Amino acid sequence: MARITFVSFEGATRTVEAPVGATAMEAAVRNGVAGIDAECGGACACATCHVYVDEAWRDRVGEPGSMEEDMLDYAFDVRPSSRLSCQIKLSDGLDGLVLHMPARQG
Ligand code: FES
Repeated sequence: MARITFVSFEGATRTVEAPVGATAMEAAVRNGVAGIDAECGGACACATCHVYVDEAWRDRVGEPGSMEEDMLDYAFDVRPSSRLSCQIKLSDGLDGLVLHMPARQG
C-alpha cells in the first residue's frame, strides 16, 4: 500500500491509502477526495484530474509523458509541477506522496 496526502486549494489535508499499481486519481476517487473530477476515467483524455506535485516529490514522480503534456494544455492554471493524477502510478517509492489541488478543474 502507498499513502498519499491530498492538499486542497484551501489547505485542508486528506491522507488515503491505495494499493501499489493503482493511480493517484484512483486513490482519490475511491476515497471520495474532493477536487478530482476524472471525467474520462483515467484515459488521459480530459485533464480534470490535474494536480500539482509537491516540490519534495517532483524528482521521484517524474515528468509527464508527451500525451499527458498535450492534455495538460486543457487544464486550469498549469505550473511546472502539474501532472494528471491518472498518469501517476503508485509504487513503494511513492509511499507518502503529497499532491496539491488546483483552484478548479478544467
Ligand atoms: Fe481524465 Fe486523468 S482522468 S485525464
